[in-house]
Amino acid sequence: AQTLTILGLESSCDDTAAAVVRQTDGEMAQVLSSVVYGQTDLHSAFGGVVPEIAARAHAEKLDICVRQALDEAGVRLSDLDGIAVTAGPGLIGGVLSGVMCAKGLSTASGLPLIGVNHLAGHALTPRLTDGIGFPYLMLLVSGGHCQYLIAHGPEEFTRLGGTIDDAPGEAFDKTARLLGLPQPGGPSVEAHSHGGDPDRFRFPRPLLDKPGCNLSFSGLKTALMRMRDQIVAEKGGLTRQDRADLCAGFQAAIVETLAEKTRRALQLYMERNPPEPVVAVAGGVAANAAIRAALESVCAEQGARFTAPPHHLCTDNAAMIAYAGLERFRAGAQDGTDLTARPRWPL
Ligand code: KG4
Ligand code: ZN
Repeated sequence: AQTLTILGLESSCDDTAAAVVRQTDGEMAQVLSSVVYGQTDLHSAFGGVVPEIAARAHAEKLDICVRQALDEAGVRLSDLDGIAVTAGPGLIGGVLSGVMCAKGLSTASGLPLIGVNHLAGHALTPRLTDGIGFPYLMLLVSGGHCQYLIAHGPEEFTRLGGTIDDAPGEAFDKTARLLGLPQPGGPSVEAHSHGGDPDRFRFPRPLLDKPGCNLSFSGLKTALMRMRDQIVAEKGGLTRQDRADLCAGFQAAIVETLAEKTRRALQLYMERNPPEPVVAVAGGVAANAAIRAALESVCAEQGARFTAPPHHLCTDNAAMIAYAGLERFRAGAQDGTDLTARPRWPL
């Protein structure tokens, strides 16, 4: 059996990350190290990720990340079989920083270079954490992405649908901002929804009346703004209970929409008669307990297994990039020094 050890680099958004993953053919892969430097502090004053600041911070942190990932894994460059790097999609300056760093390392060491699609990294994570086989249904829900995919192979995905505007994490973040709650919005809105009445405010259920698996979340924030402004106009401000009710109503709309669209995606996937039907979820929003519970019950109802990677491998990280690179490399793929950074790169 062949053992492969791959270094992965990730810098497509606001996390600089490096990781080492090892896998012996036919066995579960091991994460030997996974280092993530977040940039939330650098961007917090601007209300969003500033691409130029992100790119500069990635360029500064990548070397440190790589050294730390190798040290923590207890390996040297010469112990590696390849260097995987996110080549897109993402903020182009950040992706370029990572690709340049990987090319430098590859040229200096003679190790193969493997470009990885960031979305494939997320989508393959349940194979890394749970060893599941192809095909499986994947729901990717984060601050930047929202899509349903059937994964057939390391580079073979069928997209069943996705958001036509905002990602759900973005909707959570905007909701938090509108209600004066701290960022990231997902955890604060979830926390404030406890004790809230989800039926006091009726949020829209976008696209539920339309067939298919597409989603839309931008209308929720408009609805929320209107409700908030009306309360403020009537009473001069929001009480703690108003906030809780708004958070609960907003979250219920997201939960219900995701549950119903997952039911539809699952039906399309089940039509292919998968031997062991599995639904996997990944991305930061997968941390939400109400969303997880709703997806789990849809899976139970349809006879599919549900799996979600641990939180630190759901959010952006380089272990998923190293692992996706390892799968590509095992399948015989690698890239040359002409590897380009791609801002857009659908699966
Ligand atoms: O995957 P991620 O770390 O980064 C990318 O967007 O790529 O996801 C971050 C998003 C943020 O929008 C955050 O608000 C959301 O995930 N999030 C949550 C929860 N925890 C994080 N959304 C809902 N509920 C949560 N508990
Ligand atoms: Zn991501």
